[in-house]
Amino acid sequence: MLVSSKIVNGINGTVIIPGDKSISHRSIIIPSISKGVTHISNLLWSEDVLRTLNAFQAMGVNIQVIKDNVIIEGKGLNSLIKSDKNINLGNSGTSARLLTGLLSSQNFNSTLVGDKSLSKRPMERITKPLELMGAKFNNNHNKLPLKIYGKKLNNIDYELELPSAQVKTGLILAALNAEGISKIVEKKITRNHTEIMLESFNADIQIKKKDTANHIFINGKKELVPKNISVPSDLSSASFFIVAALINKNSFIKMNNINLNPTRDGILRALNLMQANIQINNKRIINGELIGDLEIKTSELKGCELESDYARLMIDEYPILSIAAAFAKSPSLFKGVGELKVKESNRLELIRHNLHNCGIFCKVNDEDLYIDPTKKINPKENQIKTDNDHRIAMSFAIMGMRLGVELKINDSEFIKTSFPNFLITLNRVGGNLSG
Ligand code: S3P
Repeated sequence: MLVSSKIVNGINGTVIIPGDKSISHRSIIIPSISKGVTHISNLLWSEDVLRTLNAFQAMGVNIQVIKDNVIIEGKGLNSLIKSDKNINLGNSGTSARLLTGLLSSQNFNSTLVGDKSLSKRPMERITKPLELMGAKFNNNHNKLPLKIYGKKLNNIDYELELPSAQVKTGLILAALNAEGISKIVEKKITRNHTEIMLESFNADIQIKKKDTANHIFINGKKELVPKNISVPSDLSSASFFIVAALINKNSFIKMNNINLNPTRDGILRALNLMQANIQINNKRIINGELIGDLEIKTSELKGCELESDYARLMIDEYPILSIAAAFAKSPSLFKGVGELKVKESNRLELIRHNLHNCGIFCKVNDEDLYIDPTKKINPKENQIKTDNDHRIAMSFAIMGMRLGVELKINDSEFIKTSFPNFLITLNRVGGNLSG
């Protein structure tokens, strides 16, 4: 259990943010099926990413770790071998959706398993479109454990029903190994790290913009050519520190090398609407990704109203944005955030429940979340329920540092899935966490 208590002198200094989680998963998967050697720096060393790494080692890929760098020797699109055990993906939804796509076109069968939370998360969003390509699963009501019968797949012409980068990526990975040209239409654009990395690996992939949609064309069966990768730092992980600095007095922090990919930067846009004092310096492109250095100062925030379109640009950041909203001078409304219900936990319910416990008025109306810090209610208890969700735990750790009471964050060990050094990193710049 983590205990988070009030800080007095603000958050100050330079914060080292670890590598981006989404890009780290892709930095293992794509080199593992390319032909040649890739060197990767600043990979995120977290439990979720290790699950992906272990999966590829179990499928025969030579992956070496030398100091903090990873070297992957890929042997081509069809070089993976059957793992002699079930592939255990722990808590990682990204690993599960991406590997389902990739493994359905291999010439061997695989079984994916996960922890309690992952075994409850929906898989039909990826298995259904893959079935249109000829993929075969032993479905178990569309949850993990999932048996994948690897086989030759057909190309696909498909419009994504959900704005999900995991589903899009799973399909792209399947299409890379299917004969012919596949077309995936994305009406609502989601994070595009896969497309960016595949372009740099010389995949035969083209993205055509039509009105506001992306039409992604993948010509399958072309071997990928490796390119070294430097993983940028994770804006999702940075967000906990951004909000900590904004809501606490006397704060000023800097964070360098942060990924600012415009398909992922909703949190910065939202905080900008809330009049946060965030300066972005030294914007540059590395490995096709937009990177920048951030400076954040204490700010008097106002509430904001976000349309549902924000959800695809910042779905993982609503828990911490809700903490910012809890200390704004006016109410906030986040519309169309229903996807929060099927993340590592039911985040919509846990945000409501825990904000209420902390004395912040909060209401869920179907898929909309309303937070009104101007209405005073009595704090109920100082226990935070996380249901083993890393982002709920980190968000309420930030909440505790601003409140006058100690907050006890239950099951906080799940923070290791995305940010193992969270406590040390936060305390180094003035945080007050113990546990
Ligand atoms: C991710 C996509 C998002 C996000 C997840 C990582 C990815 O999920 O919530 O943490 O790396 O592709 P959805 O695809 O379900 O929106």
